[in-house]
Amino acid sequence: MPTKIYSLYSHFYDSLFGALLHSGRRMASILMDIQPGERILEVGIGTGISLPLYRRDTDIIGIDISWDMIKRAREKKQRLGYHNVKLCIMDASEMAFRDNYFDKVIASHSIAVIPRPLETLKEIKRVCKENAEFFFLNYAGSDDNLVAKFEKALSPIRCKLGLGKAINLEKLLNSANFNIDFKDRINTFKLVQIIKCRNNGV
Ligand SMILES: C[S@@+](CC[C@H](N)C(=O)[O-])C[C@H]1O[C@@H](n2cnc3c(N)ncnc32)[C@H](O)[C@@H]1O
Repeated sequence: MPTKIYSLYSHFYDSLFGALLHSGRRMASILMDIQPGERILEVGIGTGISLPLYRRDTDIIGIDISWDMIKRAREKKQRLGYHNVKLCIMDASEMAFRDNYFDKVIASHSIAVIPRPLETLKEIKRVCKENAEFFFLNYAGSDDNLVAKFEKALSPIRCKLGLGKAINLEKLLNSANFNIDFKDRINTFKLVQIIKCRNNGV
């Protein structure tokens, strides 16, 4: 399902979700505080919309299950000359990387659309170094009970549109033994969640 809908989205994803979600992506890149030489994984990189936010003296590896999204990201990489970026078609819930490989991981608006989110979080932990840091952006929905009910009713439609199911990311992160260091609500109406975690060694 995600591959089909994202093949379609690949043509207009940047126009639709570029400016709309930019401030969150920018905040995440600042929070990541990427250092020269670090190896970074972006899970569900899509069209590579975040690439301009990363420094060039690092190794950036982006994975996505959709061939068409990766194709767009490759075009962007080529056009902007990001020689430090590698892009792979890969299922985030079954990654082909070895253990203890990455320094930092970001999953920007991808955990809710990945069919097996818990397995993905476990994989993210596996491929990261012991002192790694993890960053998540996720549509969290409203805090207001009434609006939340309305959002819940719309959830099946969101799913059909490939915008992800309503997940409780904090609960998922706890189940996968992530320690949450920082969390905030951002963007218009504070509907997007930004979370920073670290490996708790379990
Ligand atoms: C909403 S887009 C997010 C794109 C980008 N990271 C952003 O910030 O806008 C979600 C992406 O997750 C990808 N995706 C869905 N399931 C996946 C899986 N199992 N493994 C890897 N990527 C997946 C989709 O193909 C899509 O490109």
